[in-house]
Amino acid sequence: MLMSGNEPTIAYETDLGAMYQGSVEDFLDSSLGCGLRGEAQMIFTSPPFPLNRKKRYGNKVGTEYLEWLGDLASSLGDLLTEDGSFVVELGNAWEPGEPVMSTLALEALLRVLSAGDFKLCQQFVVNNPARLPSPAQWVNVERIRVKDSYTNVWWMSRVPRPKANNRNVLTGYSPSMKKLLRRQSYNSGRRPSEHKIGETSFLTDNGGAIPGNVLEFSNTVSTDRYRAYCRENDLKVHPARMPPGLAEFFVKLLTEENDLVLDPFGGSNTTGAVAEELGRQWISIEPEPEYIEGSKGRFDTVARDSAEAAPEPI
Ligand SMILES: C[S@@+](CC[C@H](N)C(=O)[O-])C[C@H]1O[C@@H](n2cnc3c(N)ncnc32)[C@H](O)[C@@H]1O
Repeated sequence: MLMSGNEPTIAYETDLGAMYQGSVEDFLDSSLGCGLRGEAQMIFTSPPFPLNRKKRYGNKVGTEYLEWLGDLASSLGDLLTEDGSFVVELGNAWEPGEPVMSTLALEALLRVLSAGDFKLCQQFVVNNPARLPSPAQWVNVERIRVKDSYTNVWWMSRVPRPKANNRNVLTGYSPSMKKLLRRQSYNSGRRPSEHKIGETSFLTDNGGAIPGNVLEFSNTVSTDRYRAYCRENDLKVHPARMPPGLAEFFVKLLTEENDLVLDPFGGSNTTGAVAEELGRQWISIEPEPEYIEGSKGRFDTVARDSAEAAPEPI
């Protein structure tokens, strides 16, 4: 259940950040939220998806969802620095009872752009090859759709040139590129695509390849310390965690050390943990106490302090 009209409270703190318990609406109304105007270099978040059926944490549906997300986007945008980025992961939604996709997620993007006065810097497709087949009725039972395996990440900003540096997210060169760098020669000239390839264009080792905007991550590691912590403490594992690699990619691309990263829908605090590891300041907000409790397992010191503070069994 969401709280309303309550000032969010600090659930725990680390060297670089703090997890607040409360709703983002209350956070934005609070003195802390007001004091953060112009401070966040990146808001990185995965909001509750527009769903056909309401979930435990109160997802809104239809136009109510659009209005809610649009209003929030506008207020959250005010927390960004002048060259800050607003990065939102949104999955796909399906119409109830029909093998038909809902356009709500796309409408949500358009609403966020207009209500928040944002520009769309780039779209990313994030494929998760390990995702279970869904929607099950159309994919597994009737076999008339293929599995829905990706989410969209929309990178937005109020300015056309937010702080960004793709040198921070280079990937390893392919074997053929490595060979070419060793050989130091290739066929230059005009390609069928009309691109003109210069004699030395590809001979410089820039430390790695510039990635494309189709990313691939899985969330399959069942032995990670977050899940182990939840298991040991009998806590519910968050059902919609994002892969840490996804947060890492955007933290590195769009922020520098000591910048502030904000996740208003913190969940299991993947964003905060990645930000901490990369030396960024962070603030996360989450209303569900059980998800907050589990998220402590992402931080050694917080988990230890929490265990030491627990009452001794009688
Ligand atoms: C998709 S999940 C985020 C998962 C997160 N990225 C992670 O890796 O664990 C969305 C979260 O938003 C929370 N939420 C729902 N309504 C909220 C609100 N009004 N304010 C803040 N958080 C909310 C839910 O409890 C849920 O944990």
